[in-house]
Amino acid sequence: MTRRFALLTVFTAALIITGSHASAAEPVFKLDPALFGEGAYVYERNCLICHGPRGDGNGEWAQGLLPKPRSFREGMFKFRTTPTGKLPTDDDLHRTIKGGLSGTAMGMFTALGDDEVRAVTEYVKSFSRRWRKAENYAEPMTFPPQPVWFADVAMRADHAVPGRILFNNACAICHGLKADGKGPSAAALKDIWNLPCKPADLRQEHLRCGDHPADIYRILATGMNGTPMMSYDQSLTEAQRWDVIAFIVGIRVPSAPVLGGSPLGSR
Ligand code: HEC
Ligand code: HEC
Repeated sequence: MTRRFALLTVFTAALIITGSHASAAEPVFKLDPALFGEGAYVYERNCLICHGPRGDGNGEWAQGLLPKPRSFREGMFKFRTTPTGKLPTDDDLHRTIKGGLSGTAMGMFTALGDDEVRAVTEYVKSFSRRWRKAENYAEPMTFPPQPVWFADVAMRADHAVPGRILFNNACAICHGLKADGKGPSAAALKDIWNLPCKPADLRQEHLRCGDHPADIYRILATGMNGTPMMSYDQSLTEAQRWDVIAFIVGIRVPSAPVLGGSPLGSR
């Protein structure tokens, strides 16, 4: 009797837990058939050629591209506002699709309307099971505003001094002492798709994450899922990160070669 009661308690507790879990799982992706249908159409016309009919990144034009078109099957995205390991928000995907990824074959789809972007986003999500699990979702992180001193060239140069030291210790092993992407471990780096993963040449004016110092801050907070570029959310303080960014911005050269290069000449 006691045993049965105990079992019942466990069962009820499990129900309660599952119940509360279900409500926490609110954002979990449920396929919207209409949106999915429209998304498939947009995808076939605009994305399939690179990302492939099965969303595995093996479209006809994928041959020879580096970075390769993303496989959507693993549900791993580099450019997000969410913590490391988590899925991107719809806004994150929207930003990537409309804004493109500078220096790669992923162009800007400015001609797509917001509805089309929403639909194709839905379609992209259908390729990976990760979108069906609540634990892969997270709220976007909050990012502090750029410090006031950042706009002042002389003060930025002051902050770049400790920034350089931090960079040498934390980043140079991959990005190189000159931030040109040629650190000692660069050649050996691979991503989860087992492809060579070149550290970015940070002297470029246009990084894939964006053109602003805040975009670098965001990358340092979120990391780039699926790549060796980890999150520094726990290991560098806010002040330290801005010092590193002051260093990076200070060594930018307009003529730095861009990553990859677009075969379509889309930019
Ligand atoms: C000409 C080839 C090409 C076409 C066409 C293309 N992409 Fe891409 N896409 C890429 C490449 C290359 C990458 C990988 C860039 C990288 O890893 O830095 C990418 C990456 C992405 C990512 C991943 C971003 C992240 O955070 O990791 C998304 C999402 C995406 N593309 C969506 C789309 C959608 C939606 C379309 C159609 C509207 C599309 N792409 C069309 C080449 C293409
Ligand atoms: C273990 C090697 C490694 C370390 C350490 C590392 N990075 Fe990276 N980083 C990478 C790789 C690889 C990429 C490119 C990933 C890709 O293209 O998929 C990258 C990309 C980036 C990008 C994005 C570039 C773009 O085009 O958007 C920024 C910004 C960046 N790193 C800054 C830093 C800073 C600052 C540090 C030190 C605090 C650092 N990284 C430490 C490997 C590393």
